[in-house]
This record gives sequence, C-alpha cells and structure tokens, in this order.
Amino acid sequence: MCGIVGYVGFRPASAVILDGLKRLEYRGYDSAGLAVKANGRLEVLKRAGKLSVLAEALASHALPGSLGVGHTRWATHGAPTDPNAHPHLTEKGDIAVIHNGIIENYLPLKEGLLARGHTFSSETDSEVLAHLIEEKYRGDLAEAVRLALSEAYGAYALVVAHRDHEEIVVARTVSPLVIGLGEGENFVASDVPALLPYTRRVIFLHDGDMAIVTREGVAVTDLAGNSVEREVVMVDWSLEAAEKGGYPHYMLKEIYEQPRVLENTLGGRLQEAGVTLGLGLEPTRYDKVHIVACGTAYYAAWVGKYLLEALARVPVEIEVASEYRYRDPVVDGKTLAICISQSGETIDTLEAIREAKRKGAGTLGVINAKGSSITREVDDTLYIHAGPEIGVASTKAYIAMLAAMAMLAVWMGRAKGTLEEKAVRELLAEMRRLPRLVEETLEQRPHIAHIAEKYHQAQDYLFLGRHIQAPTAYEGALKLKEISYIHAEAYPAGEMKHGPIALIDERLPVVVLATHSPFYEKTVSNIQEVRARGGRVIAVATEGDTEVGKFAQDVIYVPKVHPLLAPVVSVVPLQLLAYETAVCLGRDVDQPRNLAKSVTVE
Ligand code: F6R
Repeated sequence: MCGIVGYVGFRPASAVILDGLKRLEYRGYDSAGLAVKANGRLEVLKRAGKLSVLAEALASHALPGSLGVGHTRWATHGAPTDPNAHPHLTEKGDIAVIHNGIIENYLPLKEGLLARGHTFSSETDSEVLAHLIEEKYRGDLAEAVRLALSEAYGAYALVVAHRDHEEIVVARTVSPLVIGLGEGENFVASDVPALLPYTRRVIFLHDGDMAIVTREGVAVTDLAGNSVEREVVMVDWSLEAAEKGGYPHYMLKEIYEQPRVLENTLGGRLQEAGVTLGLGLEPTRYDKVHIVACGTAYYAAWVGKYLLEALARVPVEIEVASEYRYRDPVVDGKTLAICISQSGETIDTLEAIREAKRKGAGTLGVINAKGSSITREVDDTLYIHAGPEIGVASTKAYIAMLAAMAMLAVWMGRAKGTLEEKAVRELLAEMRRLPRLVEETLEQRPHIAHIAEKYHQAQDYLFLGRHIQAPTAYEGALKLKEISYIHAEAYPAGEMKHGPIALIDERLPVVVLATHSPFYEKTVSNIQEVRARGGRVIAVATEGDTEVGKFAQDVIYVPKVHPLLAPVVSVVPLQLLAYETAVCLGRDVDQPRNLAKSVTVE
C-alpha cells in the first residue's frame, strides 16, 4: 500500500522521485506528493488524483534540489484530497513526513497535540507524526524521530526530511522499506522496482529498524539508537522486467510472460524421478498442513490442497489469512504451516504465519519477492521466481505459485513414500510441458477478445468448476471483478443446484471449466442444466473435445494436460477474458479503482 521514494545525492531529486513513484504507482494511486530541500527550505507539491496530475503540476512548478521525499497514496484515514496527500509538513515548514501504514493511537496523540497548540491541515493519522517529531526536535533529527516513535504504535514505514539536515531519516515496523545504495547517492523506497534504474545493491530494513541516509552512506540502528548490521543484498530483477516493454498494460505483459515464468519456477528443480527444492524442512515430521494466503494466493493455496492431498496423502486445511489469524487454530509441532504470497508483505498473511509459528508449527513461505518480510520470519522459503509483478491484478505470480505447489506436492509425496516413481515421472514430464502449453493457450487471445466483446455489457457473470478447477473458477471471477468491475460469482459446479441456479437467465454468462478430468461428465451435465434455463455458457474445454460445443455458445479450447495440472493452463483464458473485457469497457487495467497491490494494513 502506498509508494515511497526518497533520494539524497547529486541528481535532481524531483526527477528521481517522480520516476520511482511511477514504478511504484501500482502500490497506491489516489493522490501523490513530494518535498524537495533547496536553499534551506522544504518545497512541497501535492495533488489528489493519479501521479500524472502531480507530474503536470511539477512541469509548471519545478522543485530544484538534490534531497527529497515522495509518495503515492492509497487512502486509509481521510479522503484522497490535496491536504491529505503526503508529505505532511509542520506549520513552520521545517519537517516533511511521509508515512505508510496506520498509527493506531493517533486520536489520543492528536488530542494531546491540539491541546498543546498544534494545528492540523489534514485528516490523516500520519500528520501526528510530523507534529510529534517537531515537538521532540532539539537539533538531532534521528533522535526526534526515535522519541516520537516511542509514543506512537501501529504500522509504519516512515521517511522524514528536515530543512536543516542533509539526510533522510527512515524507520519501519510492519510496512516495508528498502534502501538502495549508490555512489555519492542513496535511495529509499517501499519496493525494489523504484530503485532498479539506479542500483541493485539494497538493504531490506527489518521491523524495528531505523536508518540515517546521507549522500555518503547509511547507518542502520534499532529504535533505541543501537547500531545494527544489515546484509547488503544484490537483487537480480532486471529493469526491463519492471517495465512495460511495448505492451499497453503491465497485466498483458505479465500474462504473456507466463511461459518464461514457468520455466524459471520449474527450472533446475525438476530431476529425472524427483524434485530438488533446496528446502531444509523434513516432510515426514508433519502429519497435517495448514495453508494461509489472501486473494489470488488463496486460490493457489486451494489448488495446493488438492495437489498435496492427492500426491502426498497429507490432510490439508486452507484458510484466508485474515480469518486464520483470529481463529485460534488447532496447531501443534506436527503441523506444517505454509503461507503463499507474491509480495511477501501482506500483513494478514504475515500475522497468520506468525500465529502458526507461535503455536509450534514448522513454517514455509511460498514467496515471490526476495528479502520480503515473510521470508525473514518463516523457517524456509520456496521462491516462485516470477520476477517483479507490477499489474495490480495478479497473473504470472499465480501461475508460478501453482507450479511451486505442484513441485512441493511431488517432493513431499516422494519423501513420504506416497508416490510411485512411475507416477512421479509422468507428472514431471507433464510439468516440463507446461511452458509450451501456456504458450499455445495464449494464441487463443483473438478468440477470447471476441467473446469478451460479445458479453462485455453483462451485469453479472457466474464461474463454475469442479475439484481442482473450482479454485480456477474463483480466480477467474476475481480477475473479472477486479479489473472490469462486473459482478462475478464463482461456485464449485456441484453447488450450483443448491442455490445459484436461481440466478440463471438469458442475460447471465456462465463460464464453465469443463476440461478433461475424472469429473468431466458431471461438469457437462452442469452445462446442460445452465442451458436448460436459458443461461449463456462460455466453456473452457480440452482440445479435441466434441461434446461441450454441442451445449455451450462459446468454447475456448486449451491443450490437454494431466488433470492435476489443468489449473495452470486453464486460468490463462480467464485472465485474458478479464483483461479483454476491461479493455472493452475502457477500464484502467493496471490501476483498478480502490485496489492496491500489496496490502500492508489490516
Ligand atoms: C488479486 C490480487 C490480490 C492478491 C492478495 C495477496 O489479483 O492481486 O488478491 O493476490 O492481495 O497478495 P500477496 O500474494 O502479495 O500476498
């Protein structure tokens, strides 16, 4: 949530900040602002709306200076207006504060500050930090930040500049912050893509870290001011990977990257008759698995449940992380708790895995972002290697999560002795084909664009799938909702007759996952039930199928693959359907309303 960029060096700070914020706009995009230090003053510019509005304002109001801080906002407290945009400046204009997260005790803090004569110019919780720091300031900015934070609690990635100091002071608890290291310049950001044009050498701050960032260097301390050592990490994401590369939208680019992503996820890990994952955990120690995740990652967890139960014969419970963390789940030392997350920063997922760990579970993260918060808290991490995902609607990370869960299930099955070598060889051969099969599926795009055009005026959509394709239906519905704003519901196909069937009429497009599987006939019956009630069926079926076309108005054919791997291939047409529908409706595909890419507040 919210993008942060800070810069101190020799370049024009406003240009570096604007460029970095553009790369982070997926994190929040309802307002933006920056403050630049020049001639002993902090000059601020803030605008409600997308970053382009701020960029326009900057074009006619240059802010010279080589130290500055900037922000794109995703509103929590206070509407997206100019005054509520960050940075927040103190009345005297000497301190500029940028904050991601939520200060939970901001109301009592604000009351105290008001009583002591401060006046506020925004409705945000963040502004209290500016006033608190001002009160504590006696010439040492880092000390003032430290004292202010000792009174505030909640989540924060905090970035502070003072007009008399050639430094940026930062601190984090919960919300992520990363420092980029340059020569004669240093950077601060909430996420790596902002840093990629300038440096690959980064320090991921840990919870409870503070840092003083100057042109010459970076000093990391804890919140008490004691010096701490943090590893300098080389990030391997390329700049091109974080840019659109000629595609109209990041989402489309990321959909097309999926064959390469699968190669990266699987690459080097598939052996002749097994899988090498480089994990330290011992699968035979566990007699049950809990998987927690949110949104799209939760649907990957659902697919993972089917895979683990089928291949490793271990009972698996899955739950959305925001529920799990408050449910007092039954966990013991024989529970393996897995969390799945693209960003590795989703607060609900992080808290859920902490809860499992507190109760004695072994923990494993299935994660995309290297060095992210979750990777530091789990016992072991299985990286999915999807590269930077910028489109707010997750696509390539999902497919990589599915591939990672399939490998994990094979690996656990082998270790537990539940999988015959022959079955393993068969599955691995199918997994090796996945990049090519996804490539072939992408060729369906013109046909899918035509279907999207045909149904784009629909008010509602229904998605149905059985067994391991039920989560595919849910993921298809989520994608459509997120970027087209069309209401979409998903059900396991067998549930349709228990209620949702009442929704069916001639206006309702029903997407049915009817790929080759042991449950194929039952799904074809569901299609007939929809047709009998006048519903319009868009089926996803296996190439060579001659049945489904008799009942469905539209069929999207996907290549045949092992039924347990079908979700990897079948989700692609649903991603494209959502994308093409959103384009037809003129929606902002990469920055859908109300959403933010990584949700670091509750
Ligand atoms: C959907 C989407 C979200 C995320 C969810 C979890 O397209 O992007 O539903 O999947 O917020 O995010 P991560 O995987 O970063 O934990």
